[in-house]
Amino acid sequence: MTKKILILSGSPRKQGNSDLLCDEFMRGALEAGHTVEKIRVQERKVAYCTACYACRDTGNCAIKDDMAEIMEKMIACDVMVLASPVYFYSIDAQLKAVIDRSVCRWTEVKNKEMYYIMTAADGEKESMDTNRTVYLCIL
Ligand SMILES: Cc1cc2nc3c(=O)[nH]c(=O)nc-3n(C[C@H](O)[C@H](O)[C@H](O)COP(=O)(O)O)c2cc1C
Repeated sequence: MTKKILILSGSPRKQGNSDLLCDEFMRGALEAGHTVEKIRVQERKVAYCTACYACRDTGNCAIKDDMAEIMEKMIACDVMVLASPVYFYSIDAQLKAVIDRSVCRWTEVKNKEMYYIMTAADGEKESMDTNRTVYLCIL
């Protein structure tokens, strides 16, 4: 079955470590016949969530930027791949902004295969624990 795959590459570094891993994921998925779209979050306009909670009344985010389009794709895909370098033991700000902004429609992001790509400078596996926990919390 052909799957619709969305890759959200969170690093600001184009062709950096995690972005290259996203490309490798994409290469394999395309070779397997799937449809893939990769979005480099850094290249889109995604403001921080301001916790206005307008979405509670409207179901939509009050901030008008690229997040509305990304949100639709997050809901529509069969497979979602998130990627972030470890920044101070956690997820990077670019991807976190997307996750925070998804609060308005997060319950619609369901029934998906999900993957998480992490990179770090530290050789200790434990250095990735907090970043990984953030990801596990959003599943
Ligand atoms: C602001 C900042 C914070 C970082 N914090 C950590 C860290 O806590 N632990 C770690 O192992 N690497 C840390 N790094 C290094 C990156 O995680 C590492 O170089 C990663 O491979 C970069 O991925 P990228 O090329 O996809 O951006 C940090 C880098 C930056 C720029």
